[in-house]
Amino acid sequence: MPSVKENDDKPDGLPKDEWQEDALYSIIILGASGDLAKKKIYPVLWSLFRDDLLPKNTSFVGYARSKLSIDDLRKSFQANCKIMKGEEEKFFAFIKNNLYISGSYDSSEDFKRLNESLNEREAKTNAGNRVFYLSLPPFVFDTATQHIRENCWGKTGWNRIVLEKPFGHDLESSRKLATHLNSLFTEEEIYRIDHYLGKELVQNLITLRFANRIFNPAWNNHNVASVMITFKEPIGTQGRGGYFDEYGIIRDIIQNHLMQIFCLAAMEKPVSLNAEDIRDEKVRVLRRIAPATIENSVFGQYLGNPTGKTEDEKMGYLDDPTVPKGSVTPTFAALVLKIDNERWEGVPWILRAGKALNERKAEIRVQFKKPDGDIMPGTGAKRDELVIRFQPNEAIYLKMMTKTPNSHFGMEETELDMTYSKRYEGVVLAEAYQLLFLEILRGRQIHFVRNDELEETWRIFTPLLHQIENEKVKPIDYEFGSRGPRDADRLLAENNFIYTGTYKWPGPSK
Ligand SMILES: *[C@@H]1O[C@H](CO)[C@@H](O)[C@H](O)[C@H]1NC(C)=O
Ligand SMILES: *[C@@H]1O[C@H](CO)[C@@H](O)[C@H](O)[C@H]1NC(C)=O
Repeated sequence: MPSVKENDDKPDGLPKDEWQEDALYSIIILGASGDLAKKKIYPVLWSLFRDDLLPKNTSFVGYARSKLSIDDLRKSFQANCKIMKGEEEKFFAFIKNNLYISGSYDSSEDFKRLNESLNEREAKTNAGNRVFYLSLPPFVFDTATQHIRENCWGKTGWNRIVLEKPFGHDLESSRKLATHLNSLFTEEEIYRIDHYLGKELVQNLITLRFANRIFNPAWNNHNVASVMITFKEPIGTQGRGGYFDEYGIIRDIIQNHLMQIFCLAAMEKPVSLNAEDIRDEKVRVLRRIAPATIENSVFGQYLGNPTGKTEDEKMGYLDDPTVPKGSVTPTFAALVLKIDNERWEGVPWILRAGKALNERKAEIRVQFKKPDGDIMPGTGAKRDELVIRFQPNEAIYLKMMTKTPNSHFGMEETELDMTYSKRYEGVVLAEAYQLLFLEILRGRQIHFVRNDELEETWRIFTPLLHQIENEKVKPIDYEFGSRGPRDADRLLAENNFIYTGTYKWPGPSK
């Protein structure tokens, strides 16, 4: 059965851009020997090259400490690239456009060598456009960015710098990083990736809300009872919890990914589709939110499941040898935010994220109030609910009441269903990183995080993060593979989110 393939790397229908003909584009990957580069960045660049989506003259320049030949570099990522029969030659051409420079992150000499080799390649063209992609641990951000700015900033074309989380650890450290970056680059030169903004259905939030008459008039506290944004994953830390332990689930998922979804769902209609207009509205709605509080939160940490099928499932968070003994870092959190503005006053927005749960899922649920002046009291009418599922099995569906066929006024729950695998059968959705790379090359910042958004999200979560860390608030235990702590269900109920369990998703392509 054909279906929307997730994260496959042969997306359909991406627009072919008109790139600057007389320019050489260089994509410089700092941290080229690292995990993210091998697993994600190089395979994505290959897929874009293969599908002729990049500017014709694009060089890929790896930079890292390890001494690698181009062949070593190729070997490090080739297994993660999809190379079909007949594409071997193209892959060879891709490798030919690769360059690797070994250097340290604190040596201006090494960065000067990088600059020289970029200059060499650009010499025969009119302009050299440079993308610096930082796939680096945070402790080298400062020196690496400084050296890039001082030694590698091209003079003939544009320069862009791409960063990924973590953007600091709390409001103060995030501000420090921002001050540093702003001393070197303009905001137009900085692309902060939150890969959720590269997801098709996250991007669709703007279209759904503002290109349809029916949603926006109902999108307010007169009609909406509550909203829940959920992230769940069915895997634990898999023996690599040491890194996670310094962050916890709020920094890992909620403060960034879920808040980006939140902004697009809650913001007012932007003046235009310009990046700055959209990002202005995101900041505006964030500014109307009071900091998250411990009274309105539930934290959890998973225990191993003795009957689990894999070693991962049997291992609790604290059994992970890389996690410090007695850690109170939450692997699950549910919390409530309120937006103090005319549209949303009184409506709870519940954000919920956890590891080692029963399923993999990222979605938003907008629960509507029951109709006023109900002429069918006592019939068991349930609330309407609009569900947008970002992953897996992308779908938009509206749970609603309908008359049971052939009954008098019997009713039942049903759905208006736009499951992508059915409506867009066989269409391959682009992967987030594919879309985001193209946006960086185009110079379009809509799907990247602006500094003031970042600052506002940290303002909302920093007091709570500091409190649970200072007071060592103990999270509630939950079992690997469960729905998380029971208390989270209580939090939902207290915040006007009704879960009846009566509705059954009929499954895709039924
Ligand atoms: C790419 O750049 C080289 C110079 O580095 C130039 O000779 C060549 O014509 C360019 N190719 C295209 C397709 O623009
Ligand atoms: C880096 O290259 C540019 C050419 O694009 C050159 O103008 C600049 O002086 C070089 N920087 C250093 C520090 O050598």
